[in-house]
Amino acid sequence: MKKHFSVAIDGPSGAGKSTMAKLLAKELGFLYVDTGAIYRTVGYYMSLIGIQPKDTDGITKYIGDVNIDIDYQADGIQHMILNGQDVTGEIRTPEISHYASCVSAQPVVRAFLLDMQRDLARKHDVIMDGRDIGTVVLPDADVKIFLTASAEERARRRMLELQEKGEKITFEKVLADMKTRDERDSSRAAAPLKCAEDAVLLDTSGLTIEQSVEAIRSIIGGKRE
Ligand code: DC
Repeated sequence: MKKHFSVAIDGPSGAGKSTMAKLLAKELGFLYVDTGAIYRTVGYYMSLIGIQPKDTDGITKYIGDVNIDIDYQADGIQHMILNGQDVTGEIRTPEISHYASCVSAQPVVRAFLLDMQRDLARKHDVIMDGRDIGTVVLPDADVKIFLTASAEERARRRMLELQEKGEKITFEKVLADMKTRDERDSSRAAAPLKCAEDAVLLDTSGLTIEQSVEAIRSIIGGKRE
């Protein structure tokens, strides 16, 4: 079977991973896989059935009831289907960001989702973004990028995104939530957020979207020749 090309983009929240990955996947004809959305879907399920975000026993008991399908529709959006229902919009709230970060620290959740992510990369050329793609999910990825930006810059971008959706939230709250989440994602024992040794580190503070895309495009281009 032909080996597919894979690009792993990791980094903290708000670094611009999904914006960059989406644009480049479209340009290259690759599948864009947003793994954060998969963890968000698990978090959303646990919140729906009333399990607390750090309840290890509850999460372990009910993780087997989670059935996730990813539906790539013509709108180019990765639709998340949870037990037959489209929850793509529901998983994008600050509450579910918190849930996702907490449930993703559970080894049972990470093990449950690992094959699903690897399987996508076995079957397609992918740009996959997350926290542990270059370190754990696709350690042999053809290209690994660790994307970051200052916490203030990332919070500013995230606040604009939330405000566009009509959420009323202050910069201070977004910044504080983001720092808490980054700290939890980086300090957990299971597959923490970290830069793979062989990843290219790209700091997008002060870069426009187009400049950041161009930087990633040339890293990928260099590896495809
Ligand atoms: O990328 P995001 O903000 O949608 O991700 C939500 C949470 O999911 C994030 O705080 C940590 C977790 N996550 C993870 O642990 N591993 C990944 N590969 C992607 C996300």
